[in-house]
Amino acid sequence: MASNNVNVAELKEKMNFWSDNFIIRDVCRLVVVSGLVFFVIFVVFFNDPSCSASGIFSNLKISPSSTQPVASSPDVYPLNVSHLAFGLQGSEKTYHFRKAYLEAWWRPNKTRGYVYLDTAPTGDLLPWSPNSPQYRINDDLSKLLQEIRPRSALMPRMVHGILELFREEHEGIKWIIMGDDDTMFFVDNLIDVLSKYDHTKYYYIGYPSEFVLSNFWFNFNQAFGGGGIILSYPLAKALVRDMERCLRTYSNLSADLMTMACLADIGANLTPLKGVHQNDLRGDYSGFLSSHPKDLVLSIHHWDVLDPIFPKMDRFQAAQHLMKAGNVDQSRLFQQTICHHRETSWTFSISWGYSAHVYEKVMARSWLMTPIETFRGWGDSNSPPLFMFNTRRPFGDPCEAPHVFFFESIEKTSTNEIITIYARSAPRNLLPCAASGNHSAEFVSKIRVFSSATRRPEVHRAECCDVVSVKSSGKAEVKLRECKIDEIIA
Ligand SMILES: *[C@@H]1O[C@H](CO)[C@@H](O)[C@H](O)[C@H]1NC(C)=O
Ligand SMILES: *[C@@H]1O[C@H](CO)[C@@H](O)[C@H](O)[C@H]1NC(C)=O
Ligand SMILES: *[C@@H]1O[C@H](CO)[C@@H](O)[C@H](O)[C@H]1NC(C)=O
Ligand SMILES: *[C@@H]1O[C@H](CO)[C@@H](O)[C@H](O)[C@H]1NC(C)=O
Repeated sequence: MASNNVNVAELKEKMNFWSDNFIIRDVCRLVVVSGLVFFVIFVVFFNDPSCSASGIFSNLKISPSSTQPVASSPDVYPLNVSHLAFGLQGSEKTYHFRKAYLEAWWRPNKTRGYVYLDTAPTGDLLPWSPNSPQYRINDDLSKLLQEIRPRSALMPRMVHGILELFREEHEGIKWIIMGDDDTMFFVDNLIDVLSKYDHTKYYYIGYPSEFVLSNFWFNFNQAFGGGGIILSYPLAKALVRDMERCLRTYSNLSADLMTMACLADIGANLTPLKGVHQNDLRGDYSGFLSSHPKDLVLSIHHWDVLDPIFPKMDRFQAAQHLMKAGNVDQSRLFQQTICHHRETSWTFSISWGYSAHVYEKVMARSWLMTPIETFRGWGDSNSPPLFMFNTRRPFGDPCEAPHVFFFESIEKTSTNEIITIYARSAPRNLLPCAASGNHSAEFVSKIRVFSSATRRPEVHRAECCDVVSVKSSGKAEVKLRECKIDEIIA
């Protein structure tokens, strides 16, 4: 086994977003909480007779009937940002350096929800930034903890955060979205994707980890809390109602696994969406983001663990930079579009708003949609299977390794097109690809990509593109368009 000499408990523990700060390290090396998030909330209530679930909920004024109006009266409003409530799990210690990640995507006075802290903010968190979600401090649960005696006190804290979210944000809410304070969410895409699901039914949405062992350690059928756990409102309500049994039965599981178990007992199973990224990965994430699944990106977790996704930037700058494109067209963000320049036998692969790759050989989409393995798994092992997807290792091969460009700027033309510009990150330092005629692409320094200003939320088929020009000055132009009916991308 790959993990023979790996301390599994330690690996799992570090996956937890709070690993450096919390008692979990001492109390429960085996409990795993991987970024998990939320949910532990419920735990809290259960074992405390003075704090029964019904009592809690009547305090919250979430009567059974008040959760159903969407079902009983047809809702003429398409899903919009006011129907989503975010619960972002943070801590006083982490939020000082993580708040910039949330602020990059949070829309003040539009997005609803809170960042949950363990203690009151101090120092440079005050005065509280108007660009951050408002904060809430979790209630003191010590009494309850004494009674429940879970292996990890962290879980009740997270559960309590969920209660606060319910208490304060139930008016008109259709979806509850739990994440971490180092999770980037893509709100426009969430709205587009969740619109396809009936929020009056029971939906449990998320995605397993990209790292195989995370799913083995926890569960292949769970939504990981850092990538995000998305619950339709009535399902969240049902979970709350069942909380006491749930917590009594499963309180020693990780928070996201407990969520899965309790939802399973209610009758709900995971609806997996590939745009959710737990990312129990380390290092350079660019290979994955340059061959993103053909699904709208919904979240990116472990922003604080992965290298900054753009070269020469810190993580905060990278988050802000990404949202320059993400605020214009999230539907195309990271969507991979491939076309060929037949004169030189080059292949262009554009990950919109993020990167452009140029290969000195005609390559098929079937091959390029496989991510380049620039990143590592969570542990030390190098023995596959590491990832839940296949990877390429083109390093050092002039016919397989791309010239790499990263998103630099975005502008709108007078003809209502979007231009994104990608700049070379570094010389490739390889000879030209001889097999396809020694047409070096080393001189290409910038790639301008034209795309429609119309968003494309239905990713039924990838887009195609044309290489409009390659100038000796080093500028290349590519134009995205719908594929022709019989077009083959190869
Ligand atoms: C969102 O929908 C609600 C009804 O649920 C409506 O009152 C509100 O105006 C809509 N907001 C936007 C920004 O469209
Ligand atoms: C949000 O709303 C509050 C109160 O209406 C207002 O004072 C504040 O300026 C708004 N913040 C932003 C960033 O628009
Ligand atoms: C959880 O683990 C603790 C410590 O091992 C134990 O005392 C407690 O009974 C367990 N709870 C459940 C519900 O199994
Ligand atoms: C490419 O260059 C190499 C070395 O310079 C040479 O041996 C080879 O014949 C060239 N290939 C083509 C197709 O011109």
